[in-house]
Amino acid sequence: MSKAVHGGNLEELSRKFNLDKEKLIDFSANINPLGVNEKVKKAIIDALDKVEKYPDITYYNLKSAIGNFEDIDYSNLVLGNGAAEIIFNLVRAVNPKKVLIPAPTFSEYEEASLSVNSNIEYYYLKEENDWSIDKDILSFINEDIDIVFICNPNNPTGVITKKDILLSIIEKAKETKTIVAIDESFLDFIKSSDKYSLVSLLKDYDNIFIIKSLTKLFAIPGIRIGYGISNNMDIINKIQSISVPWNINILAEVAAINSLNDKEYISKSTAYIEEEKKYLFKELCKFNDVKIFKPSVNFIMFKLKKDIDLKYELMKRNIIIRSCSNYNGLDKNYYRIAVRTREENEIFINTLKKVIS
Ligand SMILES: Cc1ncc(COP(=O)(O)O)c(C=O)c1O
Repeated sequence: MSKAVHGGNLEELSRKFNLDKEKLIDFSANINPLGVNEKVKKAIIDALDKVEKYPDITYYNLKSAIGNFEDIDYSNLVLGNGAAEIIFNLVRAVNPKKVLIPAPTFSEYEEASLSVNSNIEYYYLKEENDWSIDKDILSFINEDIDIVFICNPNNPTGVITKKDILLSIIEKAKETKTIVAIDESFLDFIKSSDKYSLVSLLKDYDNIFIIKSLTKLFAIPGIRIGYGISNNMDIINKIQSISVPWNINILAEVAAINSLNDKEYISKSTAYIEEEKKYLFKELCKFNDVKIFKPSVNFIMFKLKKDIDLKYELMKRNIIIRSCSNYNGLDKNYYRIAVRTREENEIFINTLKKVIS
């Protein structure tokens, strides 16, 4: 099991610190603040009787729904019990001797690589460079690197890597026989995601592997559903062969199909989050003791210039945020918050004023 500390562990926190779970506002997990789509909830309830049967082992309907959503052939897909399982299955399938991982980034690329004893090289992102990936990353890609992971947009910095940089990485990686694993789990939070997604390039390159989670945009992290897409059938078949059969339960299948089919919920969510992101950004910019990094999707990273344990201080006031102290490349002064509802965002800003002024 992963040892990494993540956001969203409210159960554990309330047990440890004797907090009333019902009163907590969770800014630590980057989940759509609109919550589960009511239509999806109803579809799950209507499907409850189906749990008496096994899911379709080929997952034809689910793969077709994802295929339609991504505009790809369903044979290019592998399914995971969350994107986390896809990341672990990818490294188990490739068994890389060495991987390249930017830092800071989502910790499971490292955890998964360590689970198969890979060596890890880090490409350190710099604050003075706005945490962006530059062309100098190319000099880190060589024949020894079997997989390079890129989280786009990056969790926790929120930085989007533009297509031209990604293309030069993919071209170099093609020469060195390196797989470029791009995690686009947060990309659908932006309306113009097509501008950044590499899905349309898949047919031209067989060294791209795209990782996607459905748990964030559709607010279903408890359901667990994610997928990988690649034109490289060797990798797809290998992952298929090491995947546990029926790794997606029937309720997750129903939730995913119904979520993907509701375009109205998706556009309502992206518009709402865009507005709330702007609100939080504007309000956070007013704090002298906060250095805020420009967000792109539904979470915001900032640096506190004051020596207080902000996570603890806010927790005492029932607000849970993500301390970035355990991210490689960051320290205890960095925090990440999710974009929540207006009411919750106002509570956060007002409480922050009290705590740091
Ligand atoms: C960048 C990124 N990828 C993947 C995941 C895992 O998502 P899932 O809930 O689908 O396992 C997360 C979860 O926080 C994430 O931040």
